[in-house]
Amino acid sequence: MTLAHSPYMLGVETSCDESAVALVDARGVVKVNAVASQIELHARFGGVVPEEASRRHIEALLPMIHETLGNHGVAWDDIHGVAVTRAPGLIGCLLVGVETAKALAWRHEKPLYGVNHLHGHLYAPYLTPENWAGSKVRHTLVMDGQTTAALPEAAGAGDGAAGDEAGGDQAGERSGGAADPVFLQPAFPHVGLIVSGGHTSLAEVRAPGRAATLATTRDDAVGEAYDKVARILGLGFPGGPEIDRRAAQGSPARFPFTVPMNRRDEKDFSFSGLKTAMARKIEALKAESETGALDEATVNDLCASFQAAAIEALLNKSVAAARERGVRDLVIVGGVASNRGLRAAAARVRAPGLRVWFPHGSYCTDNAAMIAGLAWNLKPLSQAEALDLNANAVAPIDEG
Ligand code: KG4
Ligand code: ZN
Repeated sequence: MTLAHSPYMLGVETSCDESAVALVDARGVVKVNAVASQIELHARFGGVVPEEASRRHIEALLPMIHETLGNHGVAWDDIHGVAVTRAPGLIGCLLVGVETAKALAWRHEKPLYGVNHLHGHLYAPYLTPENWAGSKVRHTLVMDGQTTAALPEAAGAGDGAAGDEAGGDQAGERSGGAADPVFLQPAFPHVGLIVSGGHTSLAEVRAPGRAATLATTRDDAVGEAYDKVARILGLGFPGGPEIDRRAAQGSPARFPFTVPMNRRDEKDFSFSGLKTAMARKIEALKAESETGALDEATVNDLCASFQAAAIEALLNKSVAAARERGVRDLVIVGGVASNRGLRAAAARVRAPGLRVWFPHGSYCTDNAAMIAGLAWNLKPLSQAEALDLNANAVAPIDEG
């Protein structure tokens, strides 16, 4: 593919507590993926404070865009268009991104793209870091129990070509210098599982930016349950990464929690019961303990037990949905998709022929690369639509 003269889509993402800016080319190769996290700002409150988050976006965003272009020698002439997350998310936060993107697109006479954040997450497995040959992993692909990096198809990665991760490197070297490697990718339609702090949904993804909801959570999102459990255990915010780390050192068998909504006829997810069961168990253990506190090993075992139940629910339903829809590919995206336990458990799933994809780690939690990459596949807004573009706190996966 020959690139147009303006090779980069500028992505802007401010739906929650990360100010993010990215440059992505038409092949989905990510030149810059800048994320300014506000974790330290919100950690002392144990969760995101919306008003504080929007103020921080206002301070951070324009300097970040300026630096992203300046530090990488990219001029506005090199920008094809501006893509911004317009929904769903915290309304004050979204508005900062949307108004900034509108003003920049208008000032520089660039097309504007309004992107649904959930569709952005679903697009993450199609992104490649610019130094992909060096970094080995475009994304993790689990096929028939084997984990591999996805290889350029030209280098011979076809059906059944699952190898070890070193294969990614060799393939990179073999096609070294090739400007346009064609990677093995999830096919459409496929089933997508979005697991983040705000969402737990299964969808049939028909094309980039087009999907239909299959199931959703009846109460807490899985990331939210992780964060709440971590808070009860005093493990800080956000809780996912710390629970994941401790789970790897603990025993999942010590506290066997019931897997939520595990019957075949129950399509939706539910995580608040699991969270409450954890809270009760923690309380009971503290009451039994002489010091009133929990020892490290017990905390690790609690984390491992909670994580095992959550993962089983996520994988059981996702694999069942993929089977039911008769698709070959299942993609797992969003902040919780970085979970190491989940990735390892996906490799143990026995579902012959099913390919399970996880994005490269930097494209799981909120980022602007997924917004810019997806926008290459969308229709730009007309000038009138661009001026009218508004942010929305709520947006279904089914739109588009
Ligand atoms: O996608 P994301 O950055 O933001 C939303 O759109 O919500 O997801 C953030 C969520 C948080 O709840 C965080 O605890 C969780 O993703 N998370 C994890 C891990 N890393 C982040 N959960 C489990 N294991 C992880 N390794
Ligand atoms: Zn998100």
